[in-house]
Amino acid sequence: MAKLDQHGAIGDNCAMGLHNTSEDRDPEHLRLAEPLSPLGWWNAGDVKPFSNEGDLKDAVFHIRRPLYIVLKDGTYAVGLGGSGVFGNGPRSPDALPVSAYVPPFRLENLGDPTFCTDLGIRYPYLAGSMANGISSCDMVEAMGRNGMLGFFGSAGMSIASIESAIDRIAGNLTGAPHGYNLNQSQG
Ligand SMILES: Cc1cc2nc3c(=O)[nH]c(=O)nc-3n(C[C@H](O)[C@H](O)[C@H](O)COP(=O)(O)O)c2cc1C
Repeated sequence: MAKLDQHGAIGDNCAMGLHNTSEDRDPEHLRLAEPLSPLGWWNAGDVKPFSNEGDLKDAVFHIRRPLYIVLKDGTYAVGLGGSGVFGNGPRSPDALPVSAYVPPFRLENLGDPTFCTDLGIRYPYLAGSMANGISSCDMVEAMGRNGMLGFFGSAGMSIASIESAIDRIAGNLTGAPHGYNLNQSQG
């Protein structure tokens, strides 16, 4: 990782924190006249910052927790959780400077909320309609039970199997939205 000073100023070999080899020296016009001020300050609390790749890959899946890129001992580190202060507000003496911040996020909040309201679902996810029951009863039921909208894929199936799939899904998903792609194409 690129080396930064305690204010986030970029070392000799890296103007934007993107490259760190001498071959990648940045043009003069990208050099920063002033050290970058931190976005704010991160208080770790009980959380331990880390900089290894494995923990970082794991961290990106914790989308409901705030993620801070902080400067620790001259390098970037990641803080998952803890608490942040933006600007130069009061902070604890051992707070670390924040370089970047990823806010906590809920899948429910993706897109226009009226989409979910109109369809009666919790998460803005639709899936299905793949022929021959590839989008199966199990899939449609799992989506419906978990706040999403699934469509059974009936193309290529016999009328009798389509009817039995509809009976099963409608019986198991009373009240939960679901759909059928009725595309009777059997010869
Ligand atoms: C194997 C397969 C079978 C499909 N069968 C149907 C079908 O029978 N009827 C239909 O309307 N769409 C069918 N589709 C299209 C899908 O419903 C869907 O519209 C398409 O995969 C694009 O969606 P996506 O962008 O979420 O992948 C099929 C897609 C795949 C990959």
